[in-house]
Amino acid sequence: MTEAIDPRADRLARITALVDLDSFSEVGSRARHRVTAFGMERKRPEGDGVVTGPARVHGRPVEVFAQDPTALGGSLGEVHAAKIAAGLDRAARARCPVVGLLDSGGARIQEGVAALDGYGSIFFRNVALSGRVPQISVVLGPCAGGAVYSPALTDIVIMQRDKAHMFVTGPRVVRAVTFEDVSLADLGGADIHAQTSGVAHMVADDAAHALDLTRRVLDYLPSSCEDLPPIGPAGAADEMPRVPKDHREPYDVRSVIAGVVDFGTFLELHEQFAPNVVVGFARIEGHAVGVVANQPLVLAGCLDIDASEKAARFVRMCDAFGVPLVTLVDVPGFLPGTGQEASGIIRKGAKLLYAFAEATVPRVTVILRKAFGGAYIVMNSKSLGADAVFSWPGAEIAVMGAEGAVDVIYRRELAEDAGRREELLTRYRAEAMDPSVPADRLSVDEVIEPGETRARVAATLRSLERSMRPGYRHDNLPQ
Ligand code: HXC
Repeated sequence: MTEAIDPRADRLARITALVDLDSFSEVGSRARHRVTAFGMERKRPEGDGVVTGPARVHGRPVEVFAQDPTALGGSLGEVHAAKIAAGLDRAARARCPVVGLLDSGGARIQEGVAALDGYGSIFFRNVALSGRVPQISVVLGPCAGGAVYSPALTDIVIMQRDKAHMFVTGPRVVRAVTFEDVSLADLGGADIHAQTSGVAHMVADDAAHALDLTRRVLDYLPSSCEDLPPIGPAGAADEMPRVPKDHREPYDVRSVIAGVVDFGTFLELHEQFAPNVVVGFARIEGHAVGVVANQPLVLAGCLDIDASEKAARFVRMCDAFGVPLVTLVDVPGFLPGTGQEASGIIRKGAKLLYAFAEATVPRVTVILRKAFGGAYIVMNSKSLGADAVFSWPGAEIAVMGAEGAVDVIYRRELAEDAGRREELLTRYRAEAMDPSVPADRLSVDEVIEPGETRARVAATLRSLERSMRPGYRHDNLPQ
């Protein structure tokens, strides 16, 4: 005789695989809906399709919930919502992170407005907790409607490849309304959300990997904005690579990150979305930091709309949770063109500017090869309140690159004698772009050798330790 699989036991198994041994205490296991319409009195799964309760991860308290797709499709009715809302209230009181394991068809159709209001009560709490306690959404199956808006309000979204799908309206509704035939994967698969929409911060190979990533993220974040991030073991960094001298030659900025942070600690977020900027958590001398770096491998490291929004939300999240920022700059400017302008690069680029300017955590910037124009200012410049700005020798900092600048300021000379171009380029580089120019006026604090970078960044962060004042700073508004 085959033993029946208990789906609640399956959800419990997911929670117990996430949390410390024997640390989970379930709350509300007997709760059920009381709906009688649509013959619902015959479908009253115990727990109403969600397992909730407090637990611990690496010794620290967390609040967890896990939805059960085998109970009414994991759909959310009044009681299901009340259980999650109670969990969010417990997290607010305990000042601890919330982890949601999601797998839900969205608002329970049979419960009508009660289900919609149930979502409203969760969204309300997601927003109230934003910037106060870390909220992590782990999407392990198809999620629709309200089941995707709640993750969008949280700090980090992790999707399980092949299993997780996220959409506001599912393929059946899409077909009925627009006659478009679209697969789950094309509508809301992990790849779409990791590469194109930017909804997913990370993609996991399977459920175990998703839970492992969740624990790793939690390790970098404090329990709440009123605590400091946990300190890990200190380690050495990789050797600093030699980056190409020619400013147009690409290299992977992740090799420079590896030369700054403790070995093996860099945890990249949004790896495939807007890869022209790299963001992620890491450790320096055991202390959590958030790294923001231009990526010369993609679009020459230009900032565009997606990159600005991606970096802006990361900076705001780090600031909300007291994680110091390390910015590595190699940026030719904002991506020019009608597409970007018409889509609002002014409005959206301003988000990154705003995020850095308002951040009160320690902030260190290293200019690696170049920093031009608005992008120089935006990337955590001294004038935006950076605590320290270092520059590598030979880095060019100016209103614009030499080619563009020479065409503007020497227009007449070049019209008379185009052969002078090289001479004028050399003159502009020497007079306007040498790091001694910004160093003269303290826009750059020190010109340092690449090999000194980690030591200087670490020393700056150490010197600012007492500037860290835990407390509520601001929310982590979705960008
Ligand atoms: C009630 C639901 C349900 C729902 C699924 N079920 N979604 N019951 N309310 N929202 C039930 C199904 O009837 C079925 O019941 C069981 O769950 C499993 O569903 P399947 O469709 O067989 O599963 P699957 O093929 O895996 O597809 C999963 C799915 C699909 C892609 C999520 O169920 C789906 O498209 N559901 C509707 C999604 C949607 O459009 N939701 C939007 C809700 S509006 P039986 O009895 O047959 O096992 C919303 C508003 C919030 O959420 C507003 C936020 C701003």
